[in-house]
Parts: sequence; C-alpha cells; structure tokens
Amino acid sequence: MAQLSKRIGKFPGYPLAEIPRRKRELLAKGMDVIDLGAGDADVAPPAVAVRALTEALKDPAMSRYGFQLGLPAFREAVVRYHQRRFGTAFDPMAEVLPLLGSKEGLAHLALATCEPGDVCLVPEPGYQCYIGGAVASGAEARIAPLRPEQDFLVELGELPRDVLRRTRLVYLNYPNNPTAAVAPRDYLERTVAVCREYQIALAYDNPYVEVTFDGYRAPSIFEIDGAREIALEFHSASKTFSMTGWRLGWVVGNRELIKALTTVKSYHDTGPWLAIQAAGAAVLDHTEELAQETVRLFQTRRDVTL
Ligand SMILES: Cc1ncc(COP(=O)(O)O)c(C=O)c1O
Repeated sequence: MAQLSKRIGKFPGYPLAEIPRRKRELLAKGMDVIDLGAGDADVAPPAVAVRALTEALKDPAMSRYGFQLGLPAFREAVVRYHQRRFGTAFDPMAEVLPLLGSKEGLAHLALATCEPGDVCLVPEPGYQCYIGGAVASGAEARIAPLRPEQDFLVELGELPRDVLRRTRLVYLNYPNNPTAAVAPRDYLERTVAVCREYQIALAYDNPYVEVTFDGYRAPSIFEIDGAREIALEFHSASKTFSMTGWRLGWVVGNRELIKALTTVKSYHDTGPWLAIQAAGAAVLDHTEELAQETVRLFQTRRDVTL
C-alpha cells in the first residue's frame, strides 16, 4: 500500500460522517429511524431559490468555471444583506468571498493563517472542521472547553500569555452549536481586543445568526469596533434557507485575510456553481422574511419539547 502522511493519523475521526451509513443499515433492516444527526432541517428550500436556480440553468454561461470571483451579483447581494441587517459595509470584490458552504472556508482558513507548531484555538464541544483545519495546517489544535459556569464562552483573556503569543487562529461560534449559547456584546469587545493585541485571526462562525428565538437578535462581529483588523465572519445558506446540500456560504471581513483565503482556495477548488450563486443572490434579498418562517416552525417544535 502507498505510504500515508503522518498527518492523516492525526485527524480525530468524524462521527457525523458515519451517521448516513449507519442510518442506511438500520433502514435496510426495516427500522423506523429518527435522524437527529446532522443539522439538516426537514424544510424545503425557498421557492425563490428554486425559481432562480431553474432560470440560471437555462443560461449556458452559468455552466462555466466560477473561479473565486464567482458571480458578482452574489457578492453584491451579500453586501446588501450585511448592510441591511447589521449596518456594516463591505467592498464586494475585496471583502467578500463565496464559499462551497462555510465548512470548507473555515477549515481552509487555518492553511492561510497557521504555521506548523502555532496554536489554533478550538472550542469543545464544537464543529469538527475547526480541528480538521488545524490538523491540516500542522498547527496544534488547543481545546478551549465550553463550560456552563462560564456561559459557554471562551475567555481568551484568561489564557496564559505564552499560549496567546503562539496562537494564530481562534474559532468562535455564537449562537453556538451545540450549546445554544449566545455572545453578549461586552464579551465580543473583550475578545476582539485580545485578538488585536496578540494579532490573532478570529474566525467568527455565524451560520445560526438568523435562527434565534424569543426576540433575541444575534449580532455580527463587525458591529464591534476594531473587528475588521483581525476577523472574518462565516455565513451559510444551509441553516437560514434550508439549502444544506446546495453547498453555498460566504465569508466577509478583513481584506488581507480574504485575500489569503482566496489564494488557498484557488489551489483547492474553483468556487461554488454559478447557478447556485444566482439562487443565493435571489434568496439573500429575502433573508429576514424567509428566516422568520423557519424560526416560527422551529419555535413551535422547541416549545413542544420544553
Ligand atoms: C457551527 C457550524 N458551523 C458551520 C457549519 C457549516 O455549514 P455549511 O458548511 O453547510 O455552510 C455548521 C453545520 O452544521 C455548523 O454547525
């Protein structure tokens, strides 16, 4: 057998990827399976997305390579959404990047920011691609435990200084999966201040920003002064629009980090399918009303289980 890299043995395993196989086995045995595995809602994608994709399919230009530039209309729709929702302005060409779902962007960012031996801070429990990115880059994935007594917040300022000096990337995710914790504004301010002081890239993973309850409105990290110096914020069409399999996400933020991530991605992929980006552009202009419908449904279900 061909020799494998030492790196491949360092990936800790990906239990969620096992679930579809296990589910198939159980279904084949005739079992009635309720799949609580991946965060994949049983909700149809928005009609506006389906219509836009159907139209885009008729245009042969949509079948070409998108490269990292992708569809300018998608970048512009992203900018309009952030302006409308968070009051933050981005240059569509230099501060936005389309992603094949936010997962690959999150993982690839470690290749753009970490050297072997650097520290990459990874919350646990947390989304597994963070560790995957750290391992691929040769960085040391240092676990930051999320504890109920700290409201599941990672307090960077409490880490030893020598660790902070070696840290090049930190992943944070609020509203959090799986704890459902949210990040108060003063917490975000402290976090941005520490990242600026130690020149640490902050990957703010925000796919659940629209999936909140009881009047709570989740912020963008770019509502915090100074965040643009060190942060990227990752968004996803998967959760807000129930478009998990379409594989569409985007990242906004610091232009040097966007440029570095674009470089890494240029060698790994050629961007999301342009027709999917056309559908993304169409739904983004309706984000708030579409999210409201889904959240109403989730809220009913949540209330039943409480
Ligand atoms: C915390 C978190 N971040 C990112 C993602 C990735 O979403 P996607 O790659 O579908 O955009 C998920 C998916 O479950 C998630 O739970």
